[in-house]
Amino acid sequence: MTEKYRKLHQQFLCCYPVNKMAWSSVNLPLSWEEQQALMDATCRHPLNRRYPVRRSYVEAFIKQLMHLLKDQDEVHDDIYGSLCNRMAEGSDSGTAYSYKHYILQPDACITLRESNSFVSEGTTGLCTWEAALALADYLVEHPDLVRGKNVVELGAGAGLLGILLKLPAMSMQAKQVLITDGSEPCVQLMRENIALNFTDSAAEQAPKAEQLRWDAISEFPWQDYAETDLLLAADVIYDDSQFDALLGAMDYFYTRRGRQLEMLLASTVRNVDTLHKFMTKLRICNYKVTPCANVSACASHFCRDHTAAVQVISIRRYS
Ligand SMILES: C[S@@+](CC[C@H](N)C(=O)[O-])C[C@H]1O[C@@H](n2cnc3c(N)ncnc32)[C@H](O)[C@@H]1O
Repeated sequence: MTEKYRKLHQQFLCCYPVNKMAWSSVNLPLSWEEQQALMDATCRHPLNRRYPVRRSYVEAFIKQLMHLLKDQDEVHDDIYGSLCNRMAEGSDSGTAYSYKHYILQPDACITLRESNSFVSEGTTGLCTWEAALALADYLVEHPDLVRGKNVVELGAGAGLLGILLKLPAMSMQAKQVLITDGSEPCVQLMRENIALNFTDSAAEQAPKAEQLRWDAISEFPWQDYAETDLLLAADVIYDDSQFDALLGAMDYFYTRRGRQLEMLLASTVRNVDTLHKFMTKLRICNYKVTPCANVSACASHFCRDHTAAVQVISIRRYS
């Protein structure tokens, strides 16, 4: 692939907002071959042909590209063709799911099937949220936090973090990784996403996905899993009616593991009062909270658009 379109390629495949894409990397006018190369890196890329991104996203991308090329004499047939095909397909409304591809390195990519809606099938977990992307970036920058650790994720949604930790090409070297969610559709989706990213030969190394509701933590068959060293959770602090269940689940782990356990919790700062309420409960329950430095400045391997502030905290309990 042409090096000069690498950023647009990476952004297109994970549906990075069209108006914030690296359009400055496109030096006008574009020759026929350059237009072809740009289309090959985006709409016509094999990953998008096999596992397509949202149709409405492709339409917005092509329209922006045509706007950019509006003063050129020649616009490549593939660009018109993609727009016509896209129009002929109709709206996204009948399509519940599409794909995103996170290109992390030339040889490392995570493909996720995700819902086109933020809330569907009674859960918010069928798509990946900014907090999970921020925590994923943080872990890529700090692999020592996961190396050799047995990891459990609570409220894992579509499964991004667990897949990252076990992806052979990323060599994060986590030991056992269990990703859990209370919602059955999320568990099904996580398993589908695991299958998408771990071919048969790598299936042994894949994370495990299981249903786990926080208020039923003690009923889970923990005897089948190693003791947990690291708990992860992203974007689970938004509904204060779930706080006691989450704190109950945390207490279950810390009672067994004490100071050997660390939890990394990533939260989008939407409602300061809700976050504050949870922080107060953590303090009352004797947890020691340490903000993780420089999360927003952390390199964005996952093409975060930084519209939402995300905080990542480390949680310990010593007694
Ligand atoms: C906003 S989504 C975040 C998903 C994912 N962590 C991410 O950041 O992309 C919140 C997730 O927490 C799960 N969840 C909420 N309450 C739960 C509970 N009581 N027990 C288990 N999972 C729960 C939801 O099913 C959903 O998948």
